[in-house]
Amino acid sequence: MFITAMASFAWANVNPTNYIGGVSFRPERDIPNLSGKVVLVTGGNTGLGKESIRQILARNPAHVFLAARSEQNAKAAIEDLKSSSSNANTDAKLTWLPLDLSSTKSVQDAAGSFKAQSSRLDILILNAGVMSLPPGETDLGHEIQLGTNHTGHFLLTKLLLPTLLRTAEEEEAGSSDVRVVSLSSIGHNLAPSFETILDQKKLKRCNTHARYGASKVANILFAAELARRYPSIMAVSVHPGLIATDLYAPLGKRNPVAALGSRVLGAVGTPVEAGARNQLWAAVGAKRAELVNGAYYVPVGNCKVHNRYVRSEEMGKELWEWTEKELRKGNANPSTAPGPDHKEGFLERTFQPHHAHHEQQQQQEQKPVFERRESQEEMEIPAQPKPQHHRRRSSTLQRLKEYMGNQDELDEAGKTYAKLM
Ligand SMILES: NC(=O)c1ccc[n+]([C@@H]2O[C@H](COP(=O)([O-])OP(=O)(O)OC[C@H]3O[C@@H](n4cnc5c(N)ncnc54)[C@H](OP(=O)(O)O)[C@@H]3O)[C@@H](O)[C@H]2O)c1
Repeated sequence: MFITAMASFAWANVNPTNYIGGVSFRPERDIPNLSGKVVLVTGGNTGLGKESIRQILARNPAHVFLAARSEQNAKAAIEDLKSSSSNANTDAKLTWLPLDLSSTKSVQDAAGSFKAQSSRLDILILNAGVMSLPPGETDLGHEIQLGTNHTGHFLLTKLLLPTLLRTAEEEEAGSSDVRVVSLSSIGHNLAPSFETILDQKKLKRCNTHARYGASKVANILFAAELARRYPSIMAVSVHPGLIATDLYAPLGKRNPVAALGSRVLGAVGTPVEAGARNQLWAAVGAKRAELVNGAYYVPVGNCKVHNRYVRSEEMGKELWEWTEKELRKGNANPSTAPGPDHKEGFLERTFQPHHAHHEQQQQQEQKPVFERRESQEEMEIPAQPKPQHHRRRSSTLQRLKEYMGNQDELDEAGKTYAKLM
């Protein structure tokens, strides 16, 4: 199973059709001055998050929040970022925001702490993530990778929405530029069925790669749905590439083959400086008019408009409503302690229906939000041609079935393989 999954993942990474297109982007040339901007990056203490902060700081933003779960790691990262020479001239404030995405209370506390320190939020990079973890769950009972990578980020974003929307409205008409960038992955190709993603019992029985894939599907669906519901915010998802970071560390601990695979990935992976380019392009590099709201991009700036998760309004809506319902259930659970800014009906207010939000906005006679830029037609892509490799796939699947034992896992692997071919 591991070999099949890794082969699928590697294939998706090297498949040239995934990389046709894109834009030329050099952060030092293309990121404009960010003065006045407030930025929040989750998982900012290491890897792509820390590198994104490093390059953003060099453009003189007003305030950067480095969200991380470990005080020691966060403070070490801040020290390093502040002392790095390219940032020596910046006046930007750099602040640790304690955040553990696997804990509802921690996410609530983080949102409360952020709001106490800043009245605006221009750029939110939902970067933190875990991969290849053994079975586990968050305090909400969600599968650990889905719960961390998706549910935690969903709650954080929802709690920060009033600030994001207010910031978008404060901008002069037509120049609103609030962005939310979700880190997804080409590993979304490893996901089980959508039905399994929403069924936590079933999801927890899947192998670790499928569970990671599920969380990365959710990241794409979330960005697309956020864009549909709140078009004044530019929300996109990105795959960064295959980058040598700590993300692969748990893989190395699984078994000797996985350890070798992890080492190979480390050797062939893109260095983190270049690896952060796609998310930097989406968050601060690209002009707003260059971005398609709700889209999914592979490096750099290569818009995959045909991605089925971007296109599926049904799945986006269902995931959104399912996550809201799950979080409401969590709030009713006495083991989930409320945050310091908790008041009765806290989550209910946070999750008031979309139309209610708009009605409220209208009542307050606020300025109309930025019109959604792309037309429906731009997102309508003709149906994909039927795959031509049916015979080859079935014989390969047959061989796979003979080689490996567990029928459930084989069926998942077969579906993944078929999808990728
Ligand atoms: N590297 C790649 O090749 C690759 C490919 C595709 C997609 N991605 C995506 O890129 C994003 C960044 O990954 P990376 O490669 O930079 O990995 P990384 O170096 O392992 O960084 C991940 C970050 O997420 C944080 N994090 C993990 N669990 C958390 C939690 N419960 N609460 C708060 N923060 C948590 C980590 O904090 P700790 O240090 O405390 O663990 C760390 O700061 C992820 O979403 C990943 O899925 C990466």
